[in-house]
Amino acid sequence: MRLFVVNGPNLNMLGRREAGFYGTFSLADLEKNIRTAVGTRAELSFFQSNSEGEIIDYIHKLTADDRLIINAASLTHTSIGIRDALSAVKVPFIEVHISNVYAREEFRHQSYLSAIAHGVIVGLGADGYVLAAEHFLKSTAA
Ligand code: DQA
Repeated sequence: MRLFVVNGPNLNMLGRREAGFYGTFSLADLEKNIRTAVGTRAELSFFQSNSEGEIIDYIHKLTADDRLIINAASLTHTSIGIRDALSAVKVPFIEVHISNVYAREEFRHQSYLSAIAHGVIVGLGADGYVLAAEHFLKSTAA
């Protein structure tokens, strides 16, 4: 299985932004954590961008046979373009948020992605990505 992990705007700043919401771990720590948990059970690729267009272009390379874990960050709340890209390629995806967006400002309660997601994990910090990966590994096991 090809498993992709996509992180959106400002997640390259993990470890340097709002520790109360996002903890003290860096994006590299987060990715290493996932790699350690997944091991050789999937072909893992990571991508982070602060640009909506780059994320859309990246999603276009995925297929329905792939699996995607995506934290679109602020673009979750605004991007019809990312939603349309996900619908176009039909990649099964789990939406992850490090913080509990429902305990924060109301504008973070709206997601353009959740309605077409395989599942959604919010508020479990970096664990959310590992749990999402474990779910995909379990559900695609023979
Ligand atoms: C986030 C929550 C978003 O509202 C915010 O814009 C982010 C990160 C999270 O992981 O908790 O950048 O997606």
